[in-house]
Amino acid sequence: MKIFIDTAELDEISEAISWGIIDGATTNPSLIKKAVDRRAGKVTMDEYIREIVKIVPGPVSLEVLGGTFDEMVTQGRLLYEKFSPYGEVAIKIPVNPSIRKDDGLEFDGLRAIRQLSDEGIPVNVTLIMTPEQALLAAKAGAAYASPFAGRIDDYIRAGMGMKRGVDFQKGDYFDHALLRKALERKMDETIDRLDSIPEVYVNSDLKKLVAVGQDNGVFSGVDLVAKILRIYRNYGFKTEVIAASLRNARQVREVAELGVHIATLPFEVIKQMVKHYKTTEGMKNFTADIVPQYRSLFEQK
Ligand code: G3P
Repeated sequence: MKIFIDTAELDEISEAISWGIIDGATTNPSLIKKAVDRRAGKVTMDEYIREIVKIVPGPVSLEVLGGTFDEMVTQGRLLYEKFSPYGEVAIKIPVNPSIRKDDGLEFDGLRAIRQLSDEGIPVNVTLIMTPEQALLAAKAGAAYASPFAGRIDDYIRAGMGMKRGVDFQKGDYFDHALLRKALERKMDETIDRLDSIPEVYVNSDLKKLVAVGQDNGVFSGVDLVAKILRIYRNYGFKTEVIAASLRNARQVREVAELGVHIATLPFEVIKQMVKHYKTTEGMKNFTADIVPQYRSLFEQK
C-alpha cells in the first residue's frame, strides 16, 4: 500500500518524507489555504506549490476550482503545465461538480476526467461517496479514485441522530462491525415475530431497521472502499483507489487489510500509527536494563 500525505503544509510534508514512508501527496483548496495563510506575504502560491511538487517522491494531487467542463479542463491543463516540470502531478476533479439541482453540471466532472485523461494528464477523482460514482470515474479513464471514508462515517452516524462534537469526535473510530451485529440481532428478533416470509418486505419495524446505519447499502467508509475495490477487481480496472478522509489509525489498518492501493493520511494520523503503550513501555525497560559492559560495545575507542 502506498502512503500519501494529505496536507499542503511543507513542514509536515518534509518531516514525513524524512521518515522514509511517503509515496505522494494530496492537497485541496482548503488545505492550501490553511498552509499559505500561515505564510502570508512570504511566498507566492506558485513558489509554494512548486516546492511541494519538488520535494514529494511521487504524485502530488492539485485540485481545480471551476465547476464547468471548460473551466475544469482549462484549469487542469494549466496546473499540469505549470507544475509537472518540477515533479509528478495529478489533477483532482470532483466526480460531480453540480451544486444546484438545475445547474446542468452533473456530468461535467466525468467529461473533464475523460478529456484530461485522453490528453495524458493523470486525474484523481475526488469527493467519491458511492461505489457507483467510483465505477463511472474508472470508466471515464481516471488514474485515481478517492472515496471519502470519514465523511461517509459522519453521514451514517448523522443518519442515526448522532452529532459530531457531541456524540463522537472527528477522529473517533466508527465501530461499523458492532453496528452491523446489533442490527442483525434486532432484525432476527423482528423476523422471528413475523408470520410469513413476504412480510419481511412490508413490516414497518423491519423497514425502519433496514434504513438504520447505512447509506444505500454502504455500511461505513471502509465498506465503501471495500465495495469499490471489489468492483474494480471484477473488471480489471487500472484506476488506483486512494482511501481518503481517513481520520484514525484503525481505519488505515482496515483499508490496508482490504488491499487498497493508496491511503492518503493527515500528518496526525501517520503519527498515531507508530504509537503503542507497550512499545513505549518496552523501550523504557530495555533502556533501564542496559549494563555498562553492553554500553561499552558502542563506545568509540
Ligand atoms: O483527502 C480528503 C480530505 O482532505 C478530507 O478529509 O477529514 O475533511 O473529510 P476530511
